[in-house]
Amino acid sequence: MATTRRYDVKDLALAKEGVRRIAWADQNMPVLAAIRERFESEQPLAGFRIAACLHVTTETANLARTLKAGGADVVLCASNPLSTQDETAAALVEEYDVSVFAINGEDNDTYYRHIEAAVDHKPQITMDDGADVIGVLHAHRREQLGDVIGGTEETTTGVIRLKALERDGALGFPIIAVNEAKTKHLFDNRYGTGQSTVDGIIRATNKLIAGSKVVVAAYGWCGRGVANRARGMGAHVIVTEIDPLKAIEAVMDGFEVLTMERAAEIGDIFVTATGNRGVIRAEHMERMKDGAILANTGHFNVEIDIPALRSMATDTREARHLVDEFTMEDGRKLYLLADGRLVNLAVAEGHPAQVMDMSFANQALSAEFIVGNAASLERKVYDVPEDIDTEIARLKLETMGVDIDMLSEDQAKYLASWDEGT
Ligand code: ADE
Repeated sequence: MATTRRYDVKDLALAKEGVRRIAWADQNMPVLAAIRERFESEQPLAGFRIAACLHVTTETANLARTLKAGGADVVLCASNPLSTQDETAAALVEEYDVSVFAINGEDNDTYYRHIEAAVDHKPQITMDDGADVIGVLHAHRREQLGDVIGGTEETTTGVIRLKALERDGALGFPIIAVNEAKTKHLFDNRYGTGQSTVDGIIRATNKLIAGSKVVVAAYGWCGRGVANRARGMGAHVIVTEIDPLKAIEAVMDGFEVLTMERAAEIGDIFVTATGNRGVIRAEHMERMKDGAILANTGHFNVEIDIPALRSMATDTREARHLVDEFTMEDGRKLYLLADGRLVNLAVAEGHPAQVMDMSFANQALSAEFIVGNAASLERKVYDVPEDIDTEIARLKLETMGVDIDMLSEDQAKYLASWDEGT
């Protein structure tokens, strides 16, 4: 299909390879494929304009295909300047008739110009991974807020921002917090971030994980995924936390828990997964060993204090692709991966399709839910309805060929009673 759409991608000649890679991911996204088939016949999104600001990956391409199958008019821009797969972007424009504004390695100005281009699409539904489209709409495109019937948010960081907007009474339209669905964060954040983060560190450095000391900042769903996968490959894993409960969990899961100040002296590889800024600071970098590797897997590149690292360095150079070497005054060298951006998407390919299948099934069904319930939704951040979450789990299990037992009538009655005991 030759396109007449608006777009800004690296090179349409990459489309053929993009199609091949999108098909590969599709083989592992059966739940989304089943939704796509139903959407094709029922057209629940017919005529709705959707602006999606997501990582432009093969998995996202299959979501865009699903939204289009449901009748939506979709524009896609990148939710991170380094995560775009250029072949995927080309294929979406050339073969799947989706407007895409995303180029891997785009500078900050281009990144925001692309978001503005998506907002120019006059969306009625927004889909964010980090709340950037919503940010632009609320900051200087407020005249468009009234056109939007609802939006979805993919990630923990975005949900935190949107809840703050809701608390301030400033949220312009209802949001479905896809991240909060169990079929999303229990699998995508944990197993997806876990595997793809370790994958990104290995692709960038080709370092041996076995026997290395890996420091994981934060024991949320992403952090525990990284900690477990690194341990699985033979690392000695140290966790840092600010939450006493999560720290106890980490200890009882068998990890060493230390403050960053102490961990800084010990670690070979540092991974931040906190969603907060200034987690690894100058006072930590001053104590780190020669050769320490610094990576971030949180949404924004603020977790490692990169300006401090730059100002401490007497010399810098690119040691390998996406590996910057910083020489300290005392001669130690520290290595920063992917400019402190999400290492799992900037260096590796993000979460595997098997988990994105459930995340993006939540996205597609939440868009359908917004259309069907627009009249009753308020300007609040909502969880994904439980019946959608449960149905996705049921479908996923079915596609995995796993059968489970069912409650008998007697067992259901027992669980619903309060007066039966020994
Ligand atoms: N976020 C993390 N991994 C992803 C992927 N593979 N596609 C889209 N968004 C993601």
